[in-house]
This record gives sequence, C-alpha cells and structure tokens, in this order.
Amino acid sequence: MMIEIKRVGVIGAGQMGTGIAQACATAGFAVRLNDREEKRIDAAFSNIDTSLAKLVSKGKLEERAKCEARERIIPAYSFADFAECDLVIEAATENEATKCQILSKLCNALSCEALVATNTSSISITRLAAITDRPEKFIGIHFMNPVPVMQLVELIRGIATEEQTYEAAKAFVAKLGKTSTMSEDFPAFIVNRILLPMINEAVYTLYEGVGSVESIDNAMKLGANHPMGPLELADFIGLDTCLSIMQVLHEGLADSKYRPCPLLVKYVEAGWLGRKAKRGFYDYRGAEPVPTR
Ligand code: 3HC
Repeated sequence: MMIEIKRVGVIGAGQMGTGIAQACATAGFAVRLNDREEKRIDAAFSNIDTSLAKLVSKGKLEERAKCEARERIIPAYSFADFAECDLVIEAATENEATKCQILSKLCNALSCEALVATNTSSISITRLAAITDRPEKFIGIHFMNPVPVMQLVELIRGIATEEQTYEAAKAFVAKLGKTSTMSEDFPAFIVNRILLPMINEAVYTLYEGVGSVESIDNAMKLGANHPMGPLELADFIGLDTCLSIMQVLHEGLADSKYRPCPLLVKYVEAGWLGRKAKRGFYDYRGAEPVPTR
C-alpha cells in the first residue's frame, strides 16, 4: 500500500531546511521545523516571510495562500514534536558526524511507519540509512537552492530502500510541484558530481591567476549562459558545503581530479564561507558585493 505523506518534519533551519519547509507548506503539507538553536528557527521564519512576499509580489502566489502556507509551519523544539510526522527530512550541515548524531537520536521519537529522508548533497545514503532503525524506509531527497524556485529534486535510494518508500517520495515531490530524477547512490549523486568540479575548477582558475573573480564569473555568465558565475554560485551554496562535497568526491572516488583547490580550503579555514558569512569570493558587507581579491 502506498504511504501517503501529509505531515512533514524538517531538521535544520539553514537555507536548505528553511526552503524545504516553505515549499512543503506552500504545497499544503503540515510542517514542523526544528533546529538545535531556537534563534535559527526564528531567523528561518523571517526568511520564509521574505521569500513568500517575493512570490506574492511576482504574482506566483496569492495573498491568502501565503497566509495559509505560513500558518502550516510550526516550530519543533525537540524531536518528540515529530511524533505525528509521516516523513522527516534531515537538512542539517553537510557533515557526516552531525548527520549521524541526528539520525541516531531521531528514530526513537517517530512512529514505526514514518519515512526518514536526508537532504545530503553528497554523502552515501546507504551509510546514513544504516544509522537508523529503518533503512528500508530511508531515502535521499536532495533539493536545490533556492528551494522555492528550483524545479529539480534528486531522489537517491540506498541499498535497502524499499520500492514503497521510493514511490512515496516520488509522489511527495510531485505534490510539491517539482520534478524528480533518480540517481544511484554514488558520491555527490548527479547534480553535484557535475556542478562541484566545475566550481572547484573555477577556484583553481582564480588560484592560478588565469582570471579575476569578475572575469571568471562574467565569462561563465555571458559565455556559457549560466544564471550565476561559478564563484558567485559557490558563495551562494556556502564554501564549507562546496568543500565538504569536494572532499566526499575526492575520498569516495579516489581520483586526484576531485582534489579541493587549496584556495577553497583557505577561505573555509578563514571563516569566509560565502554569503551567509558576508564574505567569500565576494564581500557582501557593503551595498553591492565586491570581489575580495
Ligand atoms: N524565494 C522566492 N523567490 C525567489 C527566491 C527565494 N528565495 N530567490 C529567487 N526568487 C525568484 C525571484 O522572485 C525571481 O522571480 P521572477 O523570475 O518571477 O522574477 C526569480 O526567482 C529570479 O530571481 P531574481 O530576479 O532575484 O534573481 P535572478 O534572476 O538572478 O535569479 C536565481 C536568482 C534563481 C537564484 C538564479 O540566479 C539561479 O538560478 N542561480 C543558480 C542557482 C543554482 O544553480 N542552484 C543550484 C545550486 S546547487 C544545489 O543547490 C545543490 C546543493 O546540494 C549544493
């Protein structure tokens, strides 16, 4: 029998978790949003308000639908608040130890039937599933940033994921009004396997002095019709996330072509994590972003 998802829990109120909560609420799901820091949940609600207002101003959402969506999202201050959820999506930092810690505690709070998903950008679904008490009900549901506007969601089955779980996740994505693709469980799946080496190469291009930040971004925007330049996109994704994904590719595929650029490592070590830290390849502290080098 098909598992019908009505109530969704989201763990992690960063840019991905916030976007996922918003997309679910807009599509009619009841949402519980959790973070280990309450102030991040408050910030998430304010970001959701801004994003919903943007959609209304563009005529993509009606005022009433906006208010209804907003009312469907309720904070979850502990995993116990997920007891009624049919699906819980982990969208914490892209760090395997953090995700394992969450997943090992989460399942005790859930009903036996509940599905568990991770929004990991790169980590093995099979390995994360093994931490839970329900690998057959575990799946990768990988959203793209910014979630409210990006059409694609990657679905990744672990070795133990049951067909029913996959079908329920596929129906869930369709109800969000998004398109799913299926990827096998290999490091960084499809989108990030292709996108992140391109971004890493852009950082090498900067590191080797082939071009400036602006030249590299303009080259790819105007020369390859990308909506954002690769360095601007790296700042948008978060340089820590970019580095984690490259490390997973490098270790998981054991190929030197995935070696993270030392300049990317240096920026992360400096805490220059991109837009969220107000500094990355661009400095966002002024009225307009300016290249940092
Ligand atoms: N909420 C609501 N609406 C939003 C939004 C948000 N957070 N962000 C953008 N929008 C809307 C805008 O209102 C606008 O609507 P319109 O087309 O009706 O005018 C539309 O999206 C475009 O936004 P803007 O005009 O402000 O800006 P741009 O035209 O520059 O588009 C962008 C912004 C959609 C982010 C575009 O630059 C883009 O597509 N960038 C590339 C994004 C990308 O590659 N994402 C994937 C990253 S990889 C990933 O997420 C995987 C992860 O694992 C790392």
